[in-house]
Amino acid sequence: MAIEIFDSPARNRLVYGCGAIERLGELAREYGSRVLVVSDYGVAEAGHTQHAVDSLEAAGLSVTSFVDVHQNPTTDDVASCLAVARPADIDLFVGIGGGSAIDTAKGCNFLLTNGGDMHDYWGFGKATKPMLPLIAVPTTAGTGSECQSFALIAESDTHRKMACGDRKATAVIALLDPVLTVTQPAMVSACAGIDAVSHAVEAAVTTKHTPISSLYAMEAFRLTSASFTRVLEAPDDLAAREAMLLGAAYAGIAIENSMLGAAHAMANPLTAQFGIVHGQAVGTMLPHVVGYNCVDAQTATIYLELATVAGLASVDALIDLLAGFVEVAPFPSSLAAAGIDADAIPTLAVNAAEQWTAAFNPVAIAAPDFEDLYRAAI
Ligand SMILES: [Fe+2]
Repeated sequence: MAIEIFDSPARNRLVYGCGAIERLGELAREYGSRVLVVSDYGVAEAGHTQHAVDSLEAAGLSVTSFVDVHQNPTTDDVASCLAVARPADIDLFVGIGGGSAIDTAKGCNFLLTNGGDMHDYWGFGKATKPMLPLIAVPTTAGTGSECQSFALIAESDTHRKMACGDRKATAVIALLDPVLTVTQPAMVSACAGIDAVSHAVEAAVTTKHTPISSLYAMEAFRLTSASFTRVLEAPDDLAAREAMLLGAAYAGIAIENSMLGAAHAMANPLTAQFGIVHGQAVGTMLPHVVGYNCVDAQTATIYLELATVAGLASVDALIDLLAGFVEVAPFPSSLAAAGIDADAIPTLAVNAAEQWTAAFNPVAIAAPDFEDLYRAAI
């Protein structure tokens, strides 16, 4: 079979290993001297923010901290961060936390260096001036934001998510220390972990997938599918945490090359209208989307490859595995159990069809199809 033409964007430097956080100061010194550390209260409470600050100060950097990041960060979070960044005259960002902290750092970077507001950067490649370097240190294994050029920032009034991307917003280093992820609460491990699994599955089959994204998606799925249940059963199992963190980063690289699909298109309205956590929403929809996409023979072949790397013999077994992940997670496994009424489905379906990621699903999908899929998951 002929190899597809591709143009794979340059990726960031990955620094991986248990205890890698100790290298933060030494690494940061290569990129700046006045740093803003962006994190949230949960990460600060777990001691990770101070750990980062200590490493940076020991290396001689001047450190300012911003810890007031909220889940699903909004334009208000970015404005608050900017108000701290500007007077500190920083030349480097460190985002330490989940996707929310890293995305807030990216969002602040757009405004600090290029001015305007977040709407100006909605889409891709809108920043015309250079941006500051960012070192991303994930403390959850999930979003893969540490390996992506996009920040997801919601409008503070409507909660509509804006995907703001630019190559210059990509972290110069993703510092991956699995030890930092052990402190994730069980709900975070489940929601972030199932998001990472979903990134691997969706990135593998989108209309934009390339030979490079396929490499990363397959390895991401091998790592995360083998360890998702284990981190819930045995949170201190460092080997499982290692696999989840590296798998989530690889899935992030896969997305950067190939985008996402219908499960993510269906998750966004569930989050915006009902406050369902992203990972729960996408994980609930994913098995149904895989079933829907199987009508396409090429997509079914890729699903079989994913099944094979997980040690399974069929796509049906893959769907069962994905559904089983939702069953073992500490959140409701159906939309009805999550408090969603069937009356809401037509509106949800219309909103799902308007999502950017719907366009990359390997099988054409429109509002009536989304209605069927939501009804299957109710
Ligand atoms: Fe996601």
